[in-house]
Amino acid sequence: MTKVITTGIIGLGRIGKLHAANIQNSIEGMQVKTAVDVVITEEAAMLMKKLGIENVGTDADRIFNDPEIDAVIICSSTDTHTDFIVRAAKAGKHIFCEKPIGSDVASIEAALREVRKAGVALQLGFVRRFDHNHKAVREAVHAGKIGKPEIVKITSRDPAAPPEAYVRTSGGLFFDMMIHDFDMACYLAGSQVTEVFTYGKVLVDDMFGKLGDVDTAIVSLVFENGAIGVIDNSRRAPYGYDQRVEVHGALGCVQDTNDVGSTCLLSTADGVAAEKPLWFFLERYNAAFIAELQAFTQAVSDGKDVAVSGEDGLAAIKIAMAAKKSLDEKRPVSISEIK
Ligand SMILES: NC(=O)c1ccc[n+]([C@@H]2O[C@H](COP(=O)([O-])OP(=O)(O)OC[C@H]3O[C@@H](n4cnc5c(N)ncnc54)[C@H](O)[C@@H]3O)[C@@H](O)[C@H]2O)c1
Repeated sequence: MTKVITTGIIGLGRIGKLHAANIQNSIEGMQVKTAVDVVITEEAAMLMKKLGIENVGTDADRIFNDPEIDAVIICSSTDTHTDFIVRAAKAGKHIFCEKPIGSDVASIEAALREVRKAGVALQLGFVRRFDHNHKAVREAVHAGKIGKPEIVKITSRDPAAPPEAYVRTSGGLFFDMMIHDFDMACYLAGSQVTEVFTYGKVLVDDMFGKLGDVDTAIVSLVFENGAIGVIDNSRRAPYGYDQRVEVHGALGCVQDTNDVGSTCLLSTADGVAAEKPLWFFLERYNAAFIAELQAFTQAVSDGKDVAVSGEDGLAAIKIAMAAKKSLDEKRPVSISEIK
């Protein structure tokens, strides 16, 4: 029988609780032994108990020093990721790390060196690559069905803004939110981004402006393979989580639409009404969250390459840094400028 991968989870906020529940209930070949957070809320404690996770505490060394633990699932706030990757690699643990991988090139490169030195697996949480709709679009592009990609368009709008405490440690819109779209753009185009130009505004909540962030942005992209692209993000979409991608090529176009609660259409004298998109990432991407951890389990068990690497995480960070620089300096920024 294949060995079960024993994990420790760091961070029991929104995403940590989701991954803990998915591992215990839906992932074959993986289990959670220990869960830590700097603050264990009553809600987190109750959920861990319900999931049968008995080792719960505030010290991450409980995970790093435990020889029974094979892998670490990093779900803590963004500003802790690079440091935990280094500590996990030094402890010889495989790593699944939520996006983004970090916030500056030098510390990410140093962390990736530790990962290579330790010979452990590191998978980044770019969950959208595992979504059934976006995967089908990518497969059509890569099967050559639309010919050479020429335009990539991504719309990604959150139903509502996150709380201020989250925004403070998130790195801002380009590092927290659009980072998914930067990775998705490269994944769909099958090519790296070479240049960006950004427009950004505070249109939703002044809180973002006070923190030096924007809540609405459009980034134009140039790809190595000659294609061009555009991403739009908003922290507000009262109709639900708006997640659509499109690739236009020499032979045609492929796009997806939002997942909805049901395909019911109500037609009356007043018009035709359809259901709203699913509310947010917990609803929209849960099957993809399960698929990404199943893929990580498989890669660790088989000693094979992970589906989303640390280098993919770094590539997306460089685009985010270029997008922010373009906003600040009001000019196109080449990725080669980012060190
Ligand atoms: N893949 C996705 O779609 C997705 C969705 C949401 C969040 N995320 C990422 O997951 C991470 C967490 O996001 P969240 O929404 O769960 O945030 P959250 O604020 O709900 O939870 C973060 C948790 O980390 C804990 N924490 C902070 N520093 C810690 C430390 N040093 N040691 C242990 N625990 C610590 C906090 O106490 C908190 O409970 C972020 O990096 C975010 O970008 C990814």
